[in-house]
Amino acid sequence: MTNAQTNQWMDLGLVEVLRQKPLQEVRVGRTRIALTFLNGTFSAVSGVCNHVGGPLGHGQLDGEYLVCPWHAWKFHCRTGEGEPGYEADKVPRYALEERDGHLWIDTESATPRAKVPHAPHPLARPVVRQPGPLRVVGISTTNMDERHRRVSTSELLLDVALAHAATVSGTETRLIRLSALKFRACEGYYSQAAEACTWPCSITQMDSKDEMDQVYEAIVHWADVILISTPIRWGNASALYYQMVERLNCVQNQITIRNRQLIKNKVAAMIITGGQDNVQAVAGQLLGFFAEIGCTFPPFPYIAHSRGWTAEDMERNVEQVRNSQDLREGAQALVDRAMLAAQRLLATEPMARLSRGGRKAHRLEVERTGAVPE
Ligand code: FES
Repeated sequence: MTNAQTNQWMDLGLVEVLRQKPLQEVRVGRTRIALTFLNGTFSAVSGVCNHVGGPLGHGQLDGEYLVCPWHAWKFHCRTGEGEPGYEADKVPRYALEERDGHLWIDTESATPRAKVPHAPHPLARPVVRQPGPLRVVGISTTNMDERHRRVSTSELLLDVALAHAATVSGTETRLIRLSALKFRACEGYYSQAAEACTWPCSITQMDSKDEMDQVYEAIVHWADVILISTPIRWGNASALYYQMVERLNCVQNQITIRNRQLIKNKVAAMIITGGQDNVQAVAGQLLGFFAEIGCTFPPFPYIAHSRGWTAEDMERNVEQVRNSQDLREGAQALVDRAMLAAQRLLATEPMARLSRGGRKAHRLEVERTGAVPE
C-alpha cells in the first residue's frame, strides 16, 4: 500500500467476504462503486452508468463487461471503457489494494468520466407531425390465435371504422393487431427509479426483437387519431390492452420527469364489446389512461356493445354484431367525430405549455408545516 495514512484510502471490508460475489455495489460515503471479483482479481469502477445513472453494481457480468441493469450499456470491469465501438465512453476506475486481509480503495484515484453519445434509437427523434393527410391508426387489443383467427366483434367494428375513414378523401389508415406482435410485458423500470423508465422504452432500447416499437411509432410519431378496440374480459379490457398500456408508461413518464409531452394534438376514441356488461367501467379506464398521456376526445368518445347478461346466447353474438346496421353506423360516426376533432386540433396552435398544478410530480411550494401557501 502506498499511503495508508491519508484519507484517500478507504477500507472496503474483508477480502474473504468481498470475494464471494463476482459483482456487487459498495459505497464509500455517498460514492457508489461497482466492485468485481473475476479470475481471482478485484476491480472497481464507478457504480453510476453514463447513460442515465443506472446502478452498474446491480447489473450482470458479460465476460469482463458490466451490463447496466437499466438499458444494458456495457463497461469494462477493469478499465471502465465502454464496449467495443464505445471505448471512449468511460466510467471512472479506481485503484485497489489488499492489505492484512482487507480490501482498500483509493478514492482519489478516480479517472475522469467521459461521455460519448450513443446512436439514438429511431424513436428518439423529435416528435414533429409530418405534412400530409389525416392519419388514423386502429389498435385491436383482442387476443386471438393468429393462425386460426376467429371473429372478434371489437375488431370487426374497428375494421368498419377504418374502412369508413379510408373513404374520406386522402385519409391514411393503419391497423395494428396486438395479437400479431411479440412484445414483452413491462418490467417495472419506473419502480426502480423514475429515471430508469426512459423514452424510448427501456425494453425497446435493449431488445431489438421487441415489436412494441410499432405501437410507439404509430401513436407518437404517425397518427392523428388513435382508435382502440377491446373486448371485455371479466369486467375489464383485454389482457393485451393492459400489456400495451403498461409499456406506455414511458410516454406518460416523460411528462413526469421531463415535462415533455410526446402526444400532442391527437384524438383517441374507443370501441368496446363484451359478453357481459361493464362497459362504462372499461371505458373509464381507457379514457383515464389516454387522457393521462395527452390525448383529446371527441364528444361521445366510445361506442359499445354488450350481450350475455339477460340473453346468454353468445353463439349468436358475432352474427348479431356483423349484421347490426346500428353498430356499423355507430362505428362510422365514431371515427367521423374523432377525425373532425383531430382536424380542429391540427388547425389550431398547440398548447404552448401545460400547467401541471395539482398533478403527480408537480413541485408544489409547500411550507415546512406542510400547508400550501395561499
Ligand atoms: S442507465 Fe445504464 S444503460 Fe441506461
